[in-house]
Amino acid sequence: MALSVVILAAGKGTRMRSSLPKVLHPIAHKPMVQHVIDAAKALHAESLNVVYGFAGEQLITAIDDPNVQWVMQSEQLGTGHAVKQAMGNIKDDNDVLVLYADVPLIGVDTLQNLIDIKPTNGIGLLTVNLEQPAGYGRILRDRGTIVGIREHKDATEDERTVKEVNTGILIANARQLKGWLENLSNDNASGEYYLTDIIAMCHNEQNQIISAQPATALEVEGANNRIQLATLEREYQRIQAQQLMLKGATLRDPARIDIRGEISIGEDIVIDVNVIIEGKVKLGNNVTIGANCIIKNSQIGNNAVIKPNSILEEAVVGDNCSVGPFARLRPGSEMLEHSAVGNFVEMKKTTLGIGSKAGHLTYLGDTLIGERVNIGAGTITCNYDGVNKSKTVIGDGAFIGSNSSLVAPIHIGKDVTVGAGSTITKTINENELAVARGKQINIKGWQRPIKKK
Ligand code: UD1
Ligand code: CA
Repeated sequence: MALSVVILAAGKGTRMRSSLPKVLHPIAHKPMVQHVIDAAKALHAESLNVVYGFAGEQLITAIDDPNVQWVMQSEQLGTGHAVKQAMGNIKDDNDVLVLYADVPLIGVDTLQNLIDIKPTNGIGLLTVNLEQPAGYGRILRDRGTIVGIREHKDATEDERTVKEVNTGILIANARQLKGWLENLSNDNASGEYYLTDIIAMCHNEQNQIISAQPATALEVEGANNRIQLATLEREYQRIQAQQLMLKGATLRDPARIDIRGEISIGEDIVIDVNVIIEGKVKLGNNVTIGANCIIKNSQIGNNAVIKPNSILEEAVVGDNCSVGPFARLRPGSEMLEHSAVGNFVEMKKTTLGIGSKAGHLTYLGDTLIGERVNIGAGTITCNYDGVNKSKTVIGDGAFIGSNSSLVAPIHIGKDVTVGAGSTITKTINENELAVARGKQINIKGWQRPIKKK
């Protein structure tokens, strides 16, 4: 049976107290509504409809997904009315799964189970048992059979004691759903067209309503304010950390890693505390990441060690490399095998060749560095003249003395030696020694100045 998904996102989200629409607030750097869209995609939905009410342009720009059909609900007349707006896009033979854009942790397995238990003629309904059911729609059962849902506002004292509540998530056949939605009335405590009224309609037509439960209650929890958002963020991170450990990673503290993207790992990696992973990150075998590192859209080879407090962005670190502590690899940094950068070394659009080292206090920008090069402490590539960026090339085996300035564009040949403290502005050929600094003079009998009266 082909599946269509309707995601309700028309709420204004006043309790976020934000100029950003509620459903664009992120969990792990990804808008809540995108989490729900991604879950729907994992179910191979044929059509994906998002019902919005406010800030349409902002939503459509932020999500920018050609698979999404945007459906405007100009007036918020209730959940039933909202679903009805999308039905025009949906083929009668399809099943329709209703999701909520502010319920971002809904699991694909939970939804697949709901799809699987849906009766041919009838409704699959996701319910959950809550100790504090106040505010939710209550599931009404008659000798075990679901016969309806009563919204909290409309419920009697007796009905309010029911702890099984409606999560809002359900699946029904489109043709049946269209019929029921036509017959909704808004004659209730809220004056809204309740989607939940279709349950009694379905039952009265002798059709079955079968319930399923989510794997955890947090899967069906909504984020209406920033406290709830933070709770869901922590839950999401807890799950990510668990999945990583199940894949074989050692996490020194699973509560102190944040994964805001996708990470793929080899065997036996170890991650220390307070590490943030962003975007797409790939780690080889036996990679070690020290405390307080931020790693974004980067690739790290086998046996590499990233020491504490290092920041990597769009960097490629080869096998057996060492980075940090306190190193910064900016976009376009590439370290080939067995190379190393130490503390307070910054690289940008720079390749550090096999076995080369920059141990301390260095800036390397727009630079191509060969093999076995030693970059002395305090070396700076002067790659910017205030208008243009220029390149530095350093040949294999070169030795750059400490505190040198290499003024680009500049070419330094193989096995060159640069004397410490040099400012290099001219090409140096293979095997040459370049010393470019003021000559030292020693003055005998030097008299230090004395304080004037
Ligand atoms: C709804 C359910 C209730 C369930 C609860 C779970 C109904 C009538 N009630 O109640 O049984 O226990 O969710 O959280 O369905 N929305 C629109 N357009 C509208 C109205 C709502 O898009 O016209 C969206 C909202 O943005 C929100 C969702 O639908 O994301 C639920 O609406 P809300 O008004 O919060 O329903 P509840 O009263 O919480
Ligand atoms: Ca709600």
